[in-house]
Amino acid sequence: MERNKLFKELVKKSRSYRGYDESRRITREELLELVDCARFAPSSVNRQPFQYLLAYEQEDLDKIQPLTGWARGLPQMKLPHPGKCPTAFIVICQNTDWDPDLNRYLRDVGIAAQTMLLAAAEMDLGGIMIGNFSPKKLAETMELPENIVPMLIVAFGKPDEKIVLTEVEPNESLNYYRDDQDTHYVPKRKLKDIVL
Ligand SMILES: Cc1cc2nc3c(=O)[nH]c(=O)nc-3n(C[C@H](O)[C@H](O)[C@H](O)COP(=O)(O)O)c2cc1C
Repeated sequence: MERNKLFKELVKKSRSYRGYDESRRITREELLELVDCARFAPSSVNRQPFQYLLAYEQEDLDKIQPLTGWARGLPQMKLPHPGKCPTAFIVICQNTDWDPDLNRYLRDVGIAAQTMLLAAAEMDLGGIMIGNFSPKKLAETMELPENIVPMLIVAFGKPDEKIVLTEVEPNESLNYYRDDQDTHYVPKRKLKDIVL
């Protein structure tokens, strides 16, 4: 495969997974490697205001999982299915002593999260960004100091579900959906429709 195509394949492999093989535990070392990749990501005026909470022990996973909201686009389904939860979380937090402005680094949060997700894909792991949570409840549950504010949760694990990318016309639905086999379909706009 051409070199540049390898990267594109990695981007395509890095989907938002909502089902994992719970027997594949994730180690602290693996999570440190993901954060070490995020460390080199760009940051506005190079402020690097984030610190990362690593959760991989069952006790912590059991605390965080109930605080996360999954697949709002499929309200009839409770995902992940029982026994298919992620085996790690990284919570990207902003240290407000380093910068108190929580709106200023919202783009940086996404860049850090996607960098870790791509690194995970390269390690044959997968994950998903979870924005649907209460930062206050998470901070209370994990007993975070006041200057550490959760910005985004990223779940990780060994993916255990099939995801298919489809292409849609501009007038077609962008809603993701699942078939009877629980295959998850994600419609993407076509290249010709997004270039101005
Ligand atoms: C910033 C952000 C927050 C997200 N939060 C959630 C979430 O709380 N729960 C969830 O199930 N999916 C969440 N997602 C995943 C999206 O639903 C997913 O990216 C979208 O359906 C497209 O699928 P794909 O990532 O596989 O292309 C989030 C994605 C982003 C970028």
